[in-house]
Amino acid sequence: MYKVAVVGASGYTGAELLRLLAGHDGVDISGVTSRQYAGQPVSGQFPSLRGCVEMDFELLNLSEVAQRSDIVFTAVPHQTAMEMVPELLDGGARVVDLSADFRLADKATYAVWYQEHTAPHLLAEAVYGLPELNREKIGAARLIANPGCYPTSAALALAPLLEDGRIDPATVIIDSKSGTSGAGRGAKVASLFCEVNEGFKAYGLPKHRHTPEIEQTLSTLAGQEVIINFTPHLVPANRGILSTCYSSLAGNAGSAELHGLFCKYYEGEPFIRVLPEGQLPNISQVRGSNFCDIGLVVDNRTNRVIVVSAIDNLVKGAAGQAIQNMNLMLGLPETQGLLQAPVFP
Ligand SMILES: NC(=O)c1ccc[n+]([C@@H]2O[C@H](COP(=O)([O-])OP(=O)(O)OC[C@H]3O[C@@H](n4cnc5c(N)ncnc54)[C@H](OP(=O)(O)O)[C@@H]3O)[C@@H](O)[C@H]2O)c1
Repeated sequence: MYKVAVVGASGYTGAELLRLLAGHDGVDISGVTSRQYAGQPVSGQFPSLRGCVEMDFELLNLSEVAQRSDIVFTAVPHQTAMEMVPELLDGGARVVDLSADFRLADKATYAVWYQEHTAPHLLAEAVYGLPELNREKIGAARLIANPGCYPTSAALALAPLLEDGRIDPATVIIDSKSGTSGAGRGAKVASLFCEVNEGFKAYGLPKHRHTPEIEQTLSTLAGQEVIINFTPHLVPANRGILSTCYSSLAGNAGSAELHGLFCKYYEGEPFIRVLPEGQLPNISQVRGSNFCDIGLVVDNRTNRVIVVSAIDNLVKGAAGQAIQNMNLMLGLPETQGLLQAPVFP
């Protein structure tokens, strides 16, 4: 059995990692860390995990956790992660980092959108962990930069079109909606029930921090620099991201033709469900699962294609994708522990 630890296990993505790892029969959990709840049982914070994860949170000791783990998941805020990852790697562990710290290849770009990078020597080594686009590099990686939730939904929605030159990359608009777990478990006024319930708002305009990450992936796919408009919204749901992506077509194509392109591009991908023509995704149909559902139409009046993707931000947008990467790194079947059907209703 492989040993895996979760650093930052008291947060939402940490808890989701524990839920999924508890049902994974190829790994044992070798450590769960939290500063706030050290010495307390996991089930005290997450009663849903009672009987599934019978462990206590511990204070983080980087070298010790690294020594007893094949893989360490760092489910902590950006800036915090880059202070931990070098020592975890030096201690002999491989790392799947869920934060944004190793996702941008260019340290100057990172400095513009976040802050100065304290471990820039690792940026070239970090592999962007979007298996559908980058599978062959993930297996041998020591450090995986697990993609952001919005960037996952946008990249999977637009990859077939950009790679096949079907859209004008200068015209891409990504309009996304996220449930409130996307903001993490920390207490914040903006996440209170009365602030979120019955509301629906845009935020982070015009420079949400996921913008350069999305642009980096789309630029690689297009083979040229892609600059986008990205508008995130907060919706009163616990989980889920729905991204509606618009772009002008590079030539003429109908819905049926582009639907065929998506089906071919994602043929054999276990977690991508290209919906039948005429159907569009709903976050309620992917909840708790590692699926990304995709639907698309061509609007002949405007000659634009509209692609809609839905994921669970905590699963395909974070913990599920991290475990998909872990499976590839450990040589386990990519789908192991991840084939749960979505929870509905
Ligand atoms: N939520 C999502 O949908 C989502 C999706 C994709 C990626 N992510 C990324 O995943 C990471 C975790 O997100 P989250 O939503 O799980 O956040 P969260 O709910 O706020 O949890 C953060 C975790 O990090 C720990 N932590 C915070 N500051 C720390 C520090 N200075 N040193 C050590 N531990 C620290 C916290 O535990 P203690 O305070 O108890 O130590 C907690 O366990 C973030 O980088 C986030 O951007 C989140």
